[in-house]
Amino acid sequence: MKLGFVGTGALTAAIVTGLKSVADNSVSVLLSPRNEEIAANLALRFDDVRVASDNQAVLDGSDMVMLAVRPQVAHEVIPSLRFRADHHVISLIATLSLKEIATLVAPARKLTKALPMPMIASRQGATILCPPDKDVAAFFGRLGKAIEVESASEFDALSVVTATYASFFKYLDTVHAWLKDQGVDEIKGRDYIATLFKALANAPDASPTSGFMHLSQEYATRGGINEQILRELTNAGLFDTFTQSLSGVHKRIVASQT
Ligand SMILES: NC(=O)c1ccc[n+]([C@@H]2O[C@H](COP(=O)([O-])OP(=O)(O)OC[C@H]3O[C@@H](n4cnc5c(N)ncnc54)[C@H](OP(=O)(O)O)[C@@H]3O)[C@@H](O)[C@H]2O)c1
Repeated sequence: MKLGFVGTGALTAAIVTGLKSVADNSVSVLLSPRNEEIAANLALRFDDVRVASDNQAVLDGSDMVMLAVRPQVAHEVIPSLRFRADHHVISLIATLSLKEIATLVAPARKLTKALPMPMIASRQGATILCPPDKDVAAFFGRLGKAIEVESASEFDALSVVTATYASFFKYLDTVHAWLKDQGVDEIKGRDYIATLFKALANAPDASPTSGFMHLSQEYATRGGINEQILRELTNAGLFDTFTQSLSGVHKRIVASQT
């Protein structure tokens, strides 16, 4: 497969790094020359990764093309390019709807919208893609997990999950800061929290049919210390506020689509 990237920034670097860490991959990669430093570095580090002379040369030398420029420049960059009918275009630009992409990349008709995450560099995390496509699912599946969705609304709702990372780390930081206040050694506290939460993150895989609330209840022994914190946070409205924030982000994502 000949894979091209229009836009060589953080996400392209992560995808190429993940891709080239897979043993015996036969994908040749063509990068657009911006960002110059990132593109040159990737070409230096990995076999079969080259930097094209310009964006059009990326398209001309590829059969699958990932659009990875920022939304702010997408409408300037993409319409100036000549796509072929047989190009498979994968847009990573969150704010462009599939309908909008179709108008920008005509006559290319095979289109996918995908949302990979930076942890793809270490082949972790999941990429959502719409509409379902076996080639794109196979590609991202090798770099972590691929989750295919049928509708744009499902894609948008799933995208909201990516807005929760900072709060997750704030949650861990709250525990860590509290431990430090108790005089616990900073490194030991961090190590303990990180190790426990890594183990907890395995629970859904270990009990694939259990819902998250079931897992929560398993730990919330009646009258126990887990139940106490869960009850107090629930009564304080923390989770209701969280749900409202999710809805607020969802509205923003839906409104940003052109
Ligand atoms: N990073 C994430 O976690 C993430 C996750 C999901 C989706 N996305 C989406 O993926 C896309 C790329 O994100 P990113 O984080 O990789 O952004 P980024 O690091 O800013 O990379 C975008 C790249 O596009 C280059 N560029 C600017 N103008 C260009 C042009 N005319 N032709 C070709 N390339 C051009 C920029 O080069 P210069 O540096 O020279 O300006 C930059 O290297 C965005 O649409 C973003 O919304 C990102």
